[in-house]
Order: sequence, then structure tokens, then C-alpha cells
Amino acid sequence: MTGADGQDFAGGADRAPQAPTGDHGPAATLWHGRFEGGPDEALMALSVSLPFDRRLAAWDIRGSMAHVRGLARIGLLDQTEEARVLDALARTGTELGDGSFRFEPSDEDIHTAIERRVTELAGDAGAKLHTGRSRNDQVATAFRLWTKESLVELAELVLELQSVLLNRAKAVGEAYLPGYTHLQRAQPVPLAHHLAAHAWALNRDVDRLLEAIARMDVSPLGAGALAGSSLPIDPAGTAMDLGFARAFTNSLDVTSDRDFVAESLFALALLGIHLSRMGEEFVLWSSQEFGFVTLDDAFSTGSSMMPQKKNPDVAELARGKAGRLVGNLTSLLVTLKGLPLAYNRDLQEDKEPLLDSVDQIRLVLLAFRGMVETATFETETMARAADDPMSLATDLAEVLVEQGVPFRQAHSVVGGLVRDSLTRGIDLAELVGGHPAFPDSVAFLFAPGAAVSRRRSPGGAGLVPVGEQLGLLETELDRAGSRIRTVRATLRG
Ligand code: ARG
Repeated sequence: MTGADGQDFAGGADRAPQAPTGDHGPAATLWHGRFEGGPDEALMALSVSLPFDRRLAAWDIRGSMAHVRGLARIGLLDQTEEARVLDALARTGTELGDGSFRFEPSDEDIHTAIERRVTELAGDAGAKLHTGRSRNDQVATAFRLWTKESLVELAELVLELQSVLLNRAKAVGEAYLPGYTHLQRAQPVPLAHHLAAHAWALNRDVDRLLEAIARMDVSPLGAGALAGSSLPIDPAGTAMDLGFARAFTNSLDVTSDRDFVAESLFALALLGIHLSRMGEEFVLWSSQEFGFVTLDDAFSTGSSMMPQKKNPDVAELARGKAGRLVGNLTSLLVTLKGLPLAYNRDLQEDKEPLLDSVDQIRLVLLAFRGMVETATFETETMARAADDPMSLATDLAEVLVEQGVPFRQAHSVVGGLVRDSLTRGIDLAELVGGHPAFPDSVAFLFAPGAAVSRRRSPGGAGLVPVGEQLGLLETELDRAGSRIRTVRATLRG
């Protein structure tokens, strides 16, 4: 799988939480100067973020390289030092990539691990890497870069799912099914209209992801711990180097701002909710009770006990994951609430929710696309269900309106016929045919699919408006595609 961190660094063992021993370990952290003893193991166990933030390694190295070039531009590193540190960063990146990187127990997070290694490799020049920089602006920079890239990749996957929906909508032609409100049959609608409805919801998701990227396109590098620096660092220069649209304007804000994480989590939660709702329909439609869809074997699961079972697990997991995505959003919002300016260590809790939401939604999008692409729509069953004359009640009332009958009276006339039909067990078509208020031409409405072909209002569930709508959807997907390509072009890497 090629995630934003497809180049996920495998090096180093995962750290399971360890029981505190009471021992005070060696004072080898990057900040040990001020302390007499080393940190307690219990503190280290609580504080390490390496198990998850090592996924940010490639983006941290990119940020560090831009920082080094910036320091060289203002003369704080000479050319030899710049080259040495850039080489050491590149080599550290390679080691992290091929698994040969050796983590030390004192490495608190990926950022300190990288700086430690660079200093080992580049000596005194390496020790200049952190000049005018804090982990606070460093972490925020790496995480923004990672997030931008992850969201673009997810927007692409959403677009692919939309294309599948559009292609299936085009291919099903004039097929129709009952449209539902309150999960009660309401009016017949073209299947293409129904499929396109989900594609339009996803369209807003793509838009939200791209808008979130645009808003987070601010470089925090140069904000330092909270106050910038007395050294002549140039945030605009490093922002441009990293492909950010602009640099921060307030160091306190940018080092503590996690709006970009919250917005990403919201965009992913809502996307997850859309997939969950669509998933719920596939669960219903694939049941024997509906029988509207047959899922391909490759996207169905069996039962360990009941040999006959074929289950829509992809759709169910899409539904299930939505809870987790909402949980991740909630978790971050609660973390942020009540934090005073500027950086607080609580903010380290921003990573796992977003890493998880990105991973989970990627899994869902890929499987969901396959499920929709390969599903068989049982259009005869759909049509049979939609041809229930009762579903024509609204269209019948509208026939009376065309005859000059006020709608409220028309509603009442048809309501009376429906009641008659139900209580006397007479077909609605027969009752309508014998009613003097209806023109003879009303019989046409009872032909299969007639209601759908008659409906014309813009955006409505008629064949003509749906044809127009699919054209608009296609244009919209092209537009989103080029927006995504534009954003992609700004990413370095
Ligand atoms: N791993 C930490 C994080 O993600 C690094 C920041 C530590 N900064 C500090 N001032 N202690 O937030």
C-alpha cells in the first residue's frame, strides 16, 4: 500500500509500554543538560511517541533539510557544514527507510532520534541543526506536511469511488427502484439518481479535504518554541522551500494550533459517515428481504458455522469504522479544549487519532470501491418493488392538478382511493380508471417505469433531469481531479 507514508520506516522495534523500575536511566536525552539525573523509566514510558511518530520521519527530514538550507542562507552554517548536515540527514533517511537505523533508549520521539543520529554523523556541524528551532515548530511542520499529503491521497481515492458510482450510474440506464422516506416505499426513482446521490455527498467530502489542505498550508517553521528567535531566521524562505503557501504570522498561535488536525478528523469522520450510510444500504439491499443487489464473492464473506451464508462485511465494516472516526475527532477536540497558549505536551496526543483515521478510511475506501464496482444490481427485483401502484399516489395527485384540481383536494381524492384499495382489496389502477376526475390518459402512468420517465423538474428523479445531472457530475469530477493535481504539484518529496 502506498500511503502518504508508503515509505513508512520500519526500522527499530516497537516499544510496548514498560513497567517502571524506579531506576533513573542514563542522562542521554537531548535536553539533559539542566538535569542532574536521567529521566525515570516510568516518565520515558509515558512520554515516548516513537512507536507512532516515526511514521513522520520522511517529513521531519524534509523539514530539517529546509531548515538547514535556511540557516546556510543567513550564514549560520557555512557551505561545508550545510553539505555535511544535509548528507547526514539524507543518510539518516536512508537508514530509517531500509531498517538499518538503530534507535536508542533515549530517543523520545522521531525528531530527537533523527537529530541525535545527524549529530553522530556530522559532528559539530550536526550539533548546529537545531539552531533557531524547537521541537514545537519542528513537529508542527512535519505533521502539517504529512497531513497535506495524506489528505490529497485520500481525496484521490474518494474521486475514484465517485468515478465508479458515476460509471455504474451511466451503465444502469433506465433502471429504477423504489425511492424511500422513513424506509417506506415513497416514489419510484432511477437507480442512476440514487447512485449519483451518494457521489454528490462524496463530492462535498473531496471539497472539504481540499479546503482543509488550503487552510493548513501555513509553515510553522521559524516559530521556535513559542516566540521565534533572536537569530535572523527567515520563515518565509523555509515555507517556500517546503512548498507551503505561506509562513505563519503569529508564533504563539502556530505552535499550538491543531485546527488542521481537527478539521482533517472532521472531514474524515463525515466522509466515513457517508460511507457508513451507503454501507447500510448495501447491507439492506443485499438481504433476501430486499434482494436489490448481489455482492461479488470477492467482496463478501462466509460464516464459520452456517455454510449457506454470504455476508456484506465490507459494507458493515464501513458502517462500523464510522464510530471509530467520530471517536478520533472527539478525542482531539477534548484534548484541545482548555489548553492555554502555547505548546503543551497534551498536543502530542494529536497524532494517533489522525494517523488512525487516515489508515482506516483508506482501507474502507479501497474495499468499498471494489464492492461497488463488482456488485450486480438486481434491476428486475428493483422494478417489481417500484411498480407497486401505491408508489404512484403522488404522481396520480399531480395528474389531477394538471386537470385544474387544487393539490390539497387531489391529495385527498387519491388518499381516498388508496384507502379503498387497501380495505376492499381492489387494484388502485382499477379504481383510478373508474374515477371521473381522471383523464383516460392516466392509464399510461401504470405502465412500468412511466412515472420515472414523466418526471421533469430540474434535479428531480426523472430520466431527463438525471441524464443532465450525470453530465454535471462528470464535469465536477474533472474539476476536482484538476484541483487535486494542482495541490499535488505543490507537494515536495
Ligand atoms: N513528540 C512531541 C510532540 O509530538 C514533541 C514535542 C516535545 N516538545 C516539548 N516542548 N517537550 O508533541
